[in-house]
Amino acid sequence: MVDPQPSKGYPVKILCILGSPSPAAWSRRLATAVADRLRVHDCEVDLLDLRDLPLAMLDTEAYGRGGVYPHEGARELRARVAAADGVVLATSVFHSSYSGLLKSALDHLEADAFENKPVALLANAGSERGATIACEHLRSVVKALSGWAVPMQVASSQADFDQETGQIKPGNVVRRCEIMCDELVKFIEAFSSLRVPR
Ligand SMILES: Cc1cc2nc3c(=O)[nH]c(=O)nc-3n(C[C@H](O)[C@H](O)[C@H](O)COP(=O)(O)O)c2cc1C
Repeated sequence: MVDPQPSKGYPVKILCILGSPSPAAWSRRLATAVADRLRVHDCEVDLLDLRDLPLAMLDTEAYGRGGVYPHEGARELRARVAAADGVVLATSVFHSSYSGLLKSALDHLEADAFENKPVALLANAGSERGATIACEHLRSVVKALSGWAVPMQVASSQADFDQETGQIKPGNVVRRCEIMCDELVKFIEAFSSLRVPR
């Protein structure tokens, strides 16, 4: 396991954005497990469940004007992204892509929002294949936001969870979560010289 050195004298901060509209989402369980794993790395994890964020429809005129965006939910999202050294995007899959809830949130960010920020991707679908496609779609969006998606991603389906406890079953998904967290921390350390001190 990678041992993160908080080289700038403060802990590594990771924003984990949960993008499922379902209150019982498996992707939320996955994201929570990833957050726990990142805490083992001594990271500070900020969990942002988009179900709890009051986001209005994207105001393209205000977006185009720049400056202070007039809608509070989007301002909160932007501030939490800005405060993070790295980001985890967790999504459910609908019609072969990531959720509209997550897309709507990401649309509120400015094009440099993920600059110098490594990003980890995880998706849950009816099938692992659907989740893999959603992660690939998210890679393009991360690039558009100037971010760096780490190579490992986690694609799961309901079959990867114990239906009684909700825990991830031991095996491939757990291993991929571990590798992805290691990569995220390693990439954040590699980018640390570019970080603006908080
Ligand atoms: C409208 C809708 C479309 C869906 N489309 C797909 C799909 O294209 N591929 C797939 O594998 N699963 C699909 N699913 C299944 C969901 O991905 C599945 O319910 C999953 O558990 C959602 O993730 P969550 O539990 O993290 O919210 C769809 C479900 C709904 C409600």
